[in-house]
Amino acid sequence: MRILVTGGSGFIGTALVPRLLSLGHEVVVLTRKSSRVAPGIAVASWDPATGKFQRDVLAGVDAVVHLAGAGIADKRWTNSRRAAILNSRVDSTRLLVSAMQEAGTPPQVFVSASAIGFYGDTGDDVHDETSGSGDGFAAEVCRAWEASATVRGPAGAAEAASAAASTAEAASATAAGVPTRTAFLRFGTVLDPAGGALARMLPLFRLGLGGRLGSGRQWMSCISREDAIAAIVEALGNEALNGPVNVVAPDPIRNADFTRALASGLGKRVGPPVPGLALRAVYGRMAKELLLGSSRVVPRVLTEAGFEFRHPDIVAYLEQLHSGRQ
Ligand SMILES: NC(=O)c1ccc[n+]([C@@H]2O[C@H](COP(=O)([O-])OP(=O)(O)OC[C@H]3O[C@@H](n4cnc5c(N)ncnc54)[C@H](OP(=O)(O)O)[C@@H]3O)[C@@H](O)[C@H]2O)c1
Repeated sequence: MRILVTGGSGFIGTALVPRLLSLGHEVVVLTRKSSRVAPGIAVASWDPATGKFQRDVLAGVDAVVHLAGAGIADKRWTNSRRAAILNSRVDSTRLLVSAMQEAGTPPQVFVSASAIGFYGDTGDDVHDETSGSGDGFAAEVCRAWEASATVRGPAGAAEAASAAASTAEAASATAAGVPTRTAFLRFGTVLDPAGGALARMLPLFRLGLGGRLGSGRQWMSCISREDAIAAIVEALGNEALNGPVNVVAPDPIRNADFTRALASGLGKRVGPPVPGLALRAVYGRMAKELLLGSSRVVPRVLTEAGFEFRHPDIVAYLEQLHSGRQ
């Protein structure tokens, strides 16, 4: 296939692109800054913030993988950062979708990133793709992001997002909006020592200072980067993957278990707990949603599709980090 990848310069994209090339696909990375993309990889430029986009970049494209968006956990959620997080996803998705709708021969498949933040704070309740959306900023972003895959005229994505309050409505709205099979990959926390959340935790854990966050009872739904990439490849080729797909390992774990497994994997002791109050004071609302809230989410669609996880057990994955056996 000829595959257009946005966000190909990011944590997931930099591992995805070589994988797609190794499978014999042709890849073009759509980027705001071509110097961020590894040499030798075909690039095209765009800028979702200004609407800059060459529509002919879709000519001959069989599939689009859309990973671009301002990092949700990179900076404190000030008003302007929240706007950047939301707009970068909605604007970029709408640009792609309207170009796909206008293309003479639209791509066969659109694989668009989303996140398990869609479900909000799940508490102890297990959530799958049939569960509705929750409260909070991350959930609002995911609803708007997924709903922006449908073009509903001048009222814009916010209206579409609130109209598509449930998963089923979001999926059917998408089916109506895009002449292409569309899978929303709701990623959990993607783990690899080379980047993302794990790379941010490693320095403290290597010093034996990594402790549970708050009570440590909150659930985390994670996936190894290798499995996240395999899920993207699966979504490209498997027609059964349509609408929302949770990209998480089968068993969510509590933050305290994650902490113990990571410390043990590095051969270090568990550090002192980090009080929730301190996290909220430093990171504000972002701490409440991303660090202290629960995400107990399971991959029902992937499991039913027969997807095989290389790292089904996240505790084992973390415990083997030190030995390099993961
Ligand atoms: N990693 C995770 O644990 C995780 C979990 C849940 C969901 N996700 C979602 O999966 C997608 C990929 O994740 P990732 O970790 O690979 O992200 P990442 O490393 O932050 O990379 C995202 C890419 O988006 C582009 N980008 C950044 N800011 C942008 C902006 N303001 N406007 C438009 N494009 C912008 C950049 O590409 P260029 O500079 O080349 O344009 C960047 O390489 C993201 O949308 C993320 O929200 C990730």
